Amino acid sequence: MKGHFITFEGGEGSGKTTQLARLGHDLLGRGYSVVQTREPGGTKIGDAIRQLILHPPSVDDDIDPMAELFLYLASRAQHIREIILPALQAGKIVLCDRFTDATIIYQGKARGLSEKVVAQMARYAAQTGNQKGVLLKPDLTLLLDLEVKVGIARLKGRKEINRIDKETFQFHESVRQGYLSLAKRNPRRIHVINTNTRLQAVSEEIREVVDALLS
Ligand SMILES: Nc1ncnc2c1ncn2[C@@H]1O[C@H](COP(=O)(O)OP(=O)(O)O)[C@@H](O)[C@H]1O
Ligand SMILES: [Mg+2]
Repeated sequence: MKGHFITFEGGEGSGKTTQLARLGHDLLGRGYSVVQTREPGGTKIGDAIRQLILHPPSVDDDIDPMAELFLYLASRAQHIREIILPALQAGKIVLCDRFTDATIIYQGKARGLSEKVVAQMARYAAQTGNQKGVLLKPDLTLLLDLEVKVGIARLKGRKEINRIDKETFQFHESVRQGYLSLAKRNPRRIHVINTNTRLQAVSEEIREVVDALLS
């Protein structure tokens, strides 16, 4: 594939959306072709799925963990075919707010469905529209790491508080530990970035890592 696929991962309030936008702005300013997107979502179908997952029709609707997993994977399959693959084939840089790692950690670990099985299913979904047997994997993953209580405190000022944001402290802690352990197992792809520091300092660290990939 000609382009570069960069994903942002991490817990709620760790700064993914903020840093993705800043990196996108920086890269565009330097003349790169950039596509900024997110999961769940990124397409019309994906956005409809996002609404279902994050803002279910009734607050009493308790989504079954397996149903939730398939909704995420459905959103991803559409996203890869419609947005990510065409952009990469055109040589663009794709910045994506969450991808397969999030499914492995949130659905596999935090919801308890089995990381191994979820990883297999996520891998299968990531083959959509691709050449046979070729798996779409990020070239680089930026894992934004922050203590749970600091992340939750940062969400306080935000307009959109969703179903996942309202999960228990224990759930978010399990997500954080899951991500850190995933990073240990994938040290070449996943870069851990501490975001308990100024916005600008985080952006600079991200820029260094991304520049190393692009050069
Ligand atoms: N390094 C930082 N220092 C202080 N506040 C931050 C920092 N990074 C992000 N924020 C703020 O924290 C909140 C959550 O950031 P956001 O990018 O939405 O996180 P995420 O997308 O990972 O949930 C936002 O209000 C954002 O402005
Ligand atoms: Mg966000």
